[in-house]
Amino acid sequence: MAKSVKTTTINGNFKGKDILSLDQFSPKDISILFKRTLKMRDIGANARPSEILKGNIVTLIFYEPSSRTFGSFGASVKQLGGATIDILDPKSFSSVSKGETLEDTIRVFEAYCDAIVIRHPNMGTAQKAAEAAQHVPVINAGDGIGEHPSQALLDLFTIYEHAEKLDGLTGVLAGDMLNGRTVHSLIRGLAKYKKNKLYLLSPKELKLSREDFRKFSESGISLIEISSTQDIPRDADFWYWTRVQKERFKSLRKYEKVKNKFILDNRLISERAGINTIFMHPLPRVGEILTEVDNDPRAAYLRTEVRNGMYVRMALIALVLGKIK
Ligand code: NCD
Repeated sequence: MAKSVKTTTINGNFKGKDILSLDQFSPKDISILFKRTLKMRDIGANARPSEILKGNIVTLIFYEPSSRTFGSFGASVKQLGGATIDILDPKSFSSVSKGETLEDTIRVFEAYCDAIVIRHPNMGTAQKAAEAAQHVPVINAGDGIGEHPSQALLDLFTIYEHAEKLDGLTGVLAGDMLNGRTVHSLIRGLAKYKKNKLYLLSPKELKLSREDFRKFSESGISLIEISSTQDIPRDADFWYWTRVQKERFKSLRKYEKVKNKFILDNRLISERAGINTIFMHPLPRVGEILTEVDNDPRAAYLRTEVRNGMYVRMALIALVLGKIK
């Protein structure tokens, strides 16, 4: 059967839909996803055998290096009894190296599976893949500097678990606002809720593009750009640190100039964090959070955030495949 729904709002019904952007989600959709995520946590955390995705195959096609997101999606499918076709680095190892177009690759693989998860270095490519796929839904696992919706959903889940709400929050996003796709999706997500305030801490070269800043601000979220750790508010609910996206720079020199300007360490925590501030990071970190922070009970990045990623993706895939309602 041909796919009838393309990029569109979820509107309470995930089945068959491409997941490309946080713009597709309403707070109600996010709350449906989170309720299912709690069930998935029960399956995942208690190693309960599940057959929800038995007989289903999901293709994971990653044109950009990935271990975390790739592993997380793979584990999610397998936790639910499904199987994956894993294509890492198709530029070197597949017909793509012979010059095959993205469209053809997608048309071929959709014949083998029930959903495609794609990561690509160019913004907009997940959308192109979704348009090429005629029968199966496509999930964006990161398209260049564009978006990374499943990461933002797991980040929102982690914040919700901690703060028990998704409105009236104060957060700090630090690092690469310009190129960070997880940041772009997370801001879109938090903008769905009322009275959220975000402090964006970055070197001036890595501020949000003016277009994004205007678009996000108009969508109702309060964004305050800061350039010093001294401007971090003391009452934040979460700090979301990010890596400067080296692969997006034209020259190594330019990258070296702006990398690791803001380090999350115990000193900064004692100066600026509150007792309820949680510390988050999409990972991988490359020096911007010191390991001395890892054992702080407020550090979520290597604990809840990673696990939540798997549970959220389990719920998302099962919903998109219509295996749960
Ligand atoms: C993020 C990404 O790929 O955008 N990582 C991830 O999904 N695990 C963040 C990053 O690479 O910095």
